[in-house]
Amino acid sequence: MDGNGRWARARGLPRLFGHRAGAENIHRIVEDCADFGIKVLTVYAFSTENWGRPRDEVDGLMRLLQETVDKEVPQMNEKGVRLWHSGDLSRLPTGMQQAISDALELTKGNDRIILNVALNYGGRAEIVRAIREIIREGMPAEDVTEEAISAHLYTAGLPDPDLIIRTAGEMRLSNFLIWQAAYAEYYSTPVLWPDFDRSELKKALDAYAHRERKFGRLPSSD
Ligand code: IPE
Ligand code: MG
Repeated sequence: MDGNGRWARARGLPRLFGHRAGAENIHRIVEDCADFGIKVLTVYAFSTENWGRPRDEVDGLMRLLQETVDKEVPQMNEKGVRLWHSGDLSRLPTGMQQAISDALELTKGNDRIILNVALNYGGRAEIVRAIREIIREGMPAEDVTEEAISAHLYTAGLPDPDLIIRTAGEMRLSNFLIWQAAYAEYYSTPVLWPDFDRSELKKALDAYAHRERKFGRLPSSD
């Protein structure tokens, strides 16, 4: 969900207004995804690297994230959304840790769509954590397979992403689901996240529908 800062700057507003517009966009896109039949949506809300931003921006983002969880979770629950979290909860403010675990519990019976919120998430840190857990469990080396590693990630039990959309034009993965994204189709659009709406989502899905996924093999026609 990139481009909040640029969206605000283009309007002569402080960056946090962009973050607010971006946060408000989430529930719309969740609904659009559910309408299009998507079963799992992951949003990259805050990376482990985002702590390096200026203090007032980090504080503002944390307040906004807390507000968004408080406001959106009851509504999402009513709409059949199951919340999921990927990332290190322990470094987040305790109020937010509680709100997130409550949200996971509240929505665990829902199955219309899973909204996985990557919050204080980093892909490399996730892999390190998985390997540490595997070692702690005393797993024999020959049992350490790709499936075993996948089963120790935050996304254990979720399918790998088919499509990764990056808004605001950057052409990099920025430590997002780096293990899970091995065969994901990548789509980058210059549209800034607060402006990314249902029609932009449809464009991304149409582009995806025209990709030929080969998973390292030959095209199906050969
Ligand atoms: C992404 O928007 C939102 C978060 C990282 C939380 P940015 O803040 O990165 O927006 P730009 O890149 O400055 O436009
Ligand atoms: Mg950015």
